[in-house]
Amino acid sequence: SSTLQASRGTVKASGNFNASADAEALYKSMKGLGTDEDTILQLLTARSNSQRQEIKATYKTLFGKDLVDDLKGELGGKFETLIVGLMTPPLAYDVTLLRNAIKVSAAVASGWTCSSLKLILFFKKTLKFVHACSSEYDDDLEEDVSGDTSGHFKRLLVILLQANRQKGIQEGTVESDAQVLFQAGEKKFGTDEQTFVTILGNRSAEHLRKVFDAYMKLSGYEMEESIKRETSGPLRDLLLAVVKCARSVPAYFAETLYYAMKGAGTDDETLIRVMVSRSEVDMMDIRAEFRRMFPSSLFSMIKGDTGGDYRKALLLLCGGDDA
Ligand SMILES: *[C@@H]1O[C@H](CO)[C@@H](O)[C@H](O)[C@H]1NC(C)=O
Ligand SMILES: *[C@@H]1O[C@H](CO)[C@@H](O)[C@H](O)[C@H]1NC(C)=O
Repeated sequence: SSTLQASRGTVKASGNFNASADAEALYKSMKGLGTDEDTILQLLTARSNSQRQEIKATYKTLFGKDLVDDLKGELGGKFETLIVGLMTPPLAYDVTLLRNAIKVSAAVASGWTCSSLKLILFFKKTLKFVHACSSEYDDDLEEDVSGDTSGHFKRLLVILLQANRQKGIQEGTVESDAQVLFQAGEKKFGTDEQTFVTILGNRSAEHLRKVFDAYMKLSGYEMEESIKRETSGPLRDLLLAVVKCARSVPAYFAETLYYAMKGAGTDDETLIRVMVSRSEVDMMDIRAEFRRMFPSSLFSMIKGDTGGDYRKALLLLCGGDDA
């Protein structure tokens, strides 16, 4: 349930919330020469997204100005991107990211798709909401997908966007799904990609986990191995993302964060996107997975990888270290 998920976040609603007091504090932090970045980041990372929306509305009432515009005017660079991300309602944030992802290119999009997959596989109701308010997000997301990509990749994205994934486990079809996947890939000369798209695009995460187990018993391969061998390009990346998300969402995001920071240069867009969008959802689980999978904690990796107010804000979203 949503309450259960919320309790796994590191960012929680402030118990002593006073939107007027917060709006005034933010106004003061930006008034006159110079900006008190510390007040801004301490305050905004200690409020839930819906509280931030209340602060924004109160700010408008009290000062006749748009809080986000004011913040943009005062801040810059990655720190500004992070703060604006925090101020954006979750749905609009996901839609913006998804649209940008799709627009950039199919290849880049595949690296971004967990933002959409997250929506699609696990927040179906959000997606339905996207459709419900498609007047606000005028040009249809599906149009974007259809316009910019092609073939099986496009077909899979469109199925995912339709968010008609089946519910629960269909015990009767676990074995046959595994069998059909085996026949479509490893047992075939060439690959029937459509079968992979249909099964991985339509079945629930719980069902897919059972299918992966059955597939392993049947073929001796992990699903990921077969996908890597049997498919290629953006389709392969998207299918792998579906499998990873079906297996474990926190593990997927832990891995995404790790590779965003590993090596020379940080992928700040990805880092910001995941830290902002998961902070109220499952950052505790992501941290635990991160610690389990990699040699250092998420906290210490962020600490070593970035600097200044940007780092401070990211560390607050991370919410603590894991020994
Ligand atoms: C909220 O803050 C404002 C401004 O600081 C203050 O005037 C008001 O009394 C506060 N309201 C409550 C309920 O504490
Ligand atoms: C699943 O995906 C395919 C496209 O590959 C679609 O044609 C089909 O109707 C979808 N639904 C079900 C229940 O399989």
